[in-house]
Amino acid sequence: MRNILITGGAGFIGSHVVRLFVNKYPDYHIINLDKLTYAGNLANLKDIENCPNYTFIKGDICDFEKVREIFKKYDITGVLHLAAESHVDRSIKDPFTFAQTNVLGTLSLLQAAREYWDGDYQGKKFYHISTDEVYGSLGFDGKLFTEENKYEPHSPYSASKASSDHFVRSFHDTFGLPVVITNCSNNYGPYQFPEKLIPLFINNIRHNKPLPVYGKGENVRDWLYVVDHARAIDLIFHKGKVADTYNIGGFNEWKNIDLIKVLIKVTDRLLGRPVGTSDHLITHVTDRAGHDLRYAIDSSKLKNELGWKPSLQFEEGIEQTVRWYLDNQEWLDNVTSGEYEKYYEKMYSNR
Ligand code: NAD
Ligand code: TYD
Repeated sequence: MRNILITGGAGFIGSHVVRLFVNKYPDYHIINLDKLTYAGNLANLKDIENCPNYTFIKGDICDFEKVREIFKKYDITGVLHLAAESHVDRSIKDPFTFAQTNVLGTLSLLQAAREYWDGDYQGKKFYHISTDEVYGSLGFDGKLFTEENKYEPHSPYSASKASSDHFVRSFHDTFGLPVVITNCSNNYGPYQFPEKLIPLFINNIRHNKPLPVYGKGENVRDWLYVVDHARAIDLIFHKGKVADTYNIGGFNEWKNIDLIKVLIKVTDRLLGRPVGTSDHLITHVTDRAGHDLRYAIDSSKLKNELGWKPSLQFEEGIEQTVRWYLDNQEWLDNVTSGEYEKYYEKMYSNR
């Protein structure tokens, strides 16, 4: 029996990781600690919420006493740390929350793990899920981020993630804590909060709303299907080398404007609209401040050492994703109206 603490399990990637672990490892106890911020939604986990090997705890990773209690009460042997503030645009408006959750929250988990494990690191692992954005921005020269790239974050979001990565490494170097870090490219798929490019644009196309393209739409991102990220996390949690770093990416670069055209084409087709119906929705708006030009990940270390590669072709992943959002309008409506927040506020206010 392993008792695994997953933080941020009610969010986009976290919910896929929780689902995978709860279903694949019936002899593990999965404890999901999530504050249920605007981005956390228990509806993402409806299909597994009653599983006997799953426990949900509403709580803040920054609440050190609570985190300590959880380690003790559940005898935690492994941590998959995903809880974070994750949206770059929000970090530009409100950097303090990012420093609080991403930096101090990570520190609180590290300190609790160190205290509870107390030097007995046999069978223990602290896994920090991070982003490729810590490496800064690439040019259009075809180079990719490798694990050797130096950290050069530009946005308050990536600066907070870089800082948390450094804290995680420092706990290995100083206290011997068995840590592992992964830096992943942009994820897409079901249950992503519709403030991020792909779900926002699918929803806007459906409702004939403008598609706000930052600047010229020339920026490049490397997109990975979220379930493939969850598979990589499973593999690295079990087989990854302690104190090591792995990059995770799809070798799948898209210029924003080209990706947006694909989204329009697929969404219009699935809605039964004639080709080109939604092209006029493209609206160029003021660029994001400090907008990183290009991210692209070299994940060959993960492929060569642990045999991972993405299972889904992008065309297939995008088709499934658009279909999911169109089939789950109620989920989108709840999330965009904030209904679910009110519901869970009431549900948990007495705990
Ligand atoms: P998300 O915003 O969808 O979910 C974050 C979750 O963390 C939410 O459920 C939220 O309620 C919870 N949370 C926030 N603050 C908390 C706190 N103080 N205490 C407890 N829970 C809290 O994020 P995501 O896109 O699923 O990203 C998950 C992780 O993966 C993050 O660490 C992010 O940096 C990293 N990541 C994301 C991407 C991506 O493309 N989305 C890519 C690479 C890495
Ligand atoms: P996003 O999904 O916010 O992820 P990240 O900033 O972490 O890469 O944005 C992906 C790309 O799409 C990024 O280059 C910014 C751009 N973008 C827009 O052009 N318009 C939008 O409304 C959003 C949310 C993003």
